[in-house]
Amino acid sequence: MSHLESERLILRPPRPVDIQAMAVWLGDFSVSRNLAKVPHPYNEDDAEDFVARFGRHGGGQYHFTVLRKADGVFLGGIGLHREESGHEFGYWLGRPFWGQGYASEAARAITRFAFERLDVPSVWAGWFHDNPASGHVLAKLGARHNGSRMRDCAARGVKVLCHEMLLTRETFVSKKAA
Ligand SMILES: CC(C)(COP(=O)(O)OP(=O)(O)OC[C@H]1O[C@@H](n2cnc3c(N)ncnc32)[C@H](O)[C@@H]1OP(=O)(O)O)[C@@H](O)C(=O)NCCC(=O)NCCS
Repeated sequence: MSHLESERLILRPPRPVDIQAMAVWLGDFSVSRNLAKVPHPYNEDDAEDFVARFGRHGGGQYHFTVLRKADGVFLGGIGLHREESGHEFGYWLGRPFWGQGYASEAARAITRFAFERLDVPSVWAGWFHDNPASGHVLAKLGARHNGSRMRDCAARGVKVLCHEMLLTRETFVSKKAA
């Protein structure tokens, strides 16, 4: 199943129609400075390459465009990928869409996908120490601090202290039941 739905959001694989919005919103340094792998500047060629590589799910890679259900507006992206260290997820929204609970809602949807469809035992995500809003999103999900390390940040061009958060299936299930 490649489409996910939550109360206000639709998550579907990236498509060429997303390229322009991706380039605009990921071209904003206030977004890319909080992500590990997105360079700055970021342009339509970068977005086109991303859509070509990740428009189809498979090989342990599940990337989604986040759309607002009410009007189809492109809000951002969220993805889950298999690493040696387990399944990592990451997310971002265009700046005008911050502060409305969309990241928390999208993160709940992708973790539900990981536990209920992919049947993984746990997922993890990292947040840079100077991005407390993302730390809060992960804590609200029930993820627990599982160590910190210096991690490359492509947009800043330096390593930045990153706090890693682990969400287990047990916690996910118990939060859901609560
Ligand atoms: C981080 C990001 C995804 C958050 O998206 P969002 O939709 O605004 O997040 P939500 O509204 O779901 O939740 C944010 C929470 O953090 C809280 N918050 C916001 N700023 C905060 C701050 N400076 N310190 C602590 N908490 C903060 C909000 O109050 C909210 O909590 P609440 O629901 O209990 O009120 C968004 O800012 C973004 O895309 N940033 C750039 C990319 C990025 O950081 N991605 C994550 C990489 S780990």
